[in-house]
Amino acid sequence: MKKLRCDQTPAWAALQAHFEASGKNFDLRQAFAQDEQRFSRFSLTAPHVFADLSKNLIDTDSRALLLALAQQCGLAQQRDAMFAGELINHTEQRAVMHFLLRKPPLAQAERAQAAIKNEANLAPELAQVHATLDAMLAYAEQVRGDAAITDIVNIGIGGSDLGPQMAVLALDEFVTAGKRFHFVSNVDGDELAGVLKGLKADGTLFLIASKTFTTAETMANAHSAKAWFEAQGGRDIGRHFAGLTTNVAAAQAFGITTTFGFWDWVGGRYSLWSAIGLPIALAIGAAGYREFLAGAHAMDEHFRTADLADNLPVQLGLLDVWYRNFHGFSSRSIAPYSSALRRWPAYLQQLEMESNGKRVGSDGQPLPFETSPVLWGEPGTNGQHAYFQMLHQGTSVVPVEFVAVKQAAHAPHDLPGHHTKLLANALAQAQALMRGKDDAGGHRHFPGNRPSTFMLLERLTPASLGALIALQEHRVFVSGAIWGINSFDQWGVELGKVLARDIEPRLQSGDVSGLDGSTAGLLQRLR
Ligand code: F6P
Repeated sequence: MKKLRCDQTPAWAALQAHFEASGKNFDLRQAFAQDEQRFSRFSLTAPHVFADLSKNLIDTDSRALLLALAQQCGLAQQRDAMFAGELINHTEQRAVMHFLLRKPPLAQAERAQAAIKNEANLAPELAQVHATLDAMLAYAEQVRGDAAITDIVNIGIGGSDLGPQMAVLALDEFVTAGKRFHFVSNVDGDELAGVLKGLKADGTLFLIASKTFTTAETMANAHSAKAWFEAQGGRDIGRHFAGLTTNVAAAQAFGITTTFGFWDWVGGRYSLWSAIGLPIALAIGAAGYREFLAGAHAMDEHFRTADLADNLPVQLGLLDVWYRNFHGFSSRSIAPYSSALRRWPAYLQQLEMESNGKRVGSDGQPLPFETSPVLWGEPGTNGQHAYFQMLHQGTSVVPVEFVAVKQAAHAPHDLPGHHTKLLANALAQAQALMRGKDDAGGHRHFPGNRPSTFMLLERLTPASLGALIALQEHRVFVSGAIWGINSFDQWGVELGKVLARDIEPRLQSGDVSGLDGSTAGLLQRLR
């Protein structure tokens, strides 16, 4: 049976009618006044994460219609196809199985998991996952016990940087004393030079993190790091470099003898659960890393088994569709009220915009509706003193996604009052966005009725962070599945890479033949 495109389903038409009839005039203040149960009606609990969705522009009718849309788009079947290891990344003919990286070994899981269709087919991959994980964690423990290694430099970009960097910062409370972590991603030599100037070759471990081991920025930085290491008198590349890649042969050709592999069914932006997660394991230890995986696995099970109505990634993904395609909201602001989560917005940008920033459906035909919103943000309370003005009084409505943590990350050393002030600000901003303020004077008028989601963690731990990340991965899957796009390729990043290879020698030679006037003019000025 041919799958209907989402905008051709009866549910889409019904959502449109509902939006016109009442959805576009929905008022949060009235909704709370009319329904004392609204908070509990629109809150969901998932492993490690409580989410209050009640300050969103939804009612029970829109929620029911969005669920009907999910059914008519075959969301559950698409999800099950991913968990069964089908080649859902069809433009690259690959399965999408990052969930397998956090699944316990089969022996332990067997009974509980027996119901998964086709699971037996994934047993060989799962065995490989655990063999690699065990080796990587043994290595991590060895390095952690090696007092001579004081600095770990991760060289990688995109998914080989953003996830590990975000997680190492987020889990700072759990990071072993005596090791410093550095992340170098940009081809801008200033970044690598800035890190190297504080280091000594015999105290440094370089991790060359690249799924493909071909990415231009990473290769340039890796070669420069190796040259620096040798110029400092460093000899033992085996001890001071490790390669994290699916292309073990290329890492070996580079001269790296310590390598940890992974597989083409792990997308770059989903790879922090694989060998790419080594910096996290070095930071928090093998046991902590296993807890991180376990938190994510708990969220996988929630996504795989909870009713769609109670399924947090499903409800968030459907809300994203409601906002993007019916309300027409073009961006979402990410507001982690935790400075430990300061790279959370950057991490989510790649996860969502590289996954769902697509203009064609699975059949390659242009889509007549919008897909990924723009994600942006800064940690609270900093954002309040920068762009929250626009969120409260600007002409566009931007849904805000708060993340707050009940206990301060450094609870035992919590400076008196800080965490309470931080949480008060998060609650107050969400409240102010919704409530608004009437003022005849105009300039002091806040329209209010501005939506937000509020996510709450008890504490930022390896397990809760793992769950929070997996929640976002699955939420992106949900909107992508409704839109009928391939969320797992990224062809859009290729053209610029190819053109840069053409331009680089021209910057030396000055050859501008065949270039457009602007590129030629800029190139000449830059020479
Ligand atoms: O340019 C985009 C991209 O392919 C991302 O998807 C990926 O995370 C990043 O580059 C880095 O790729 P690699 O890990 O192969 O170096």
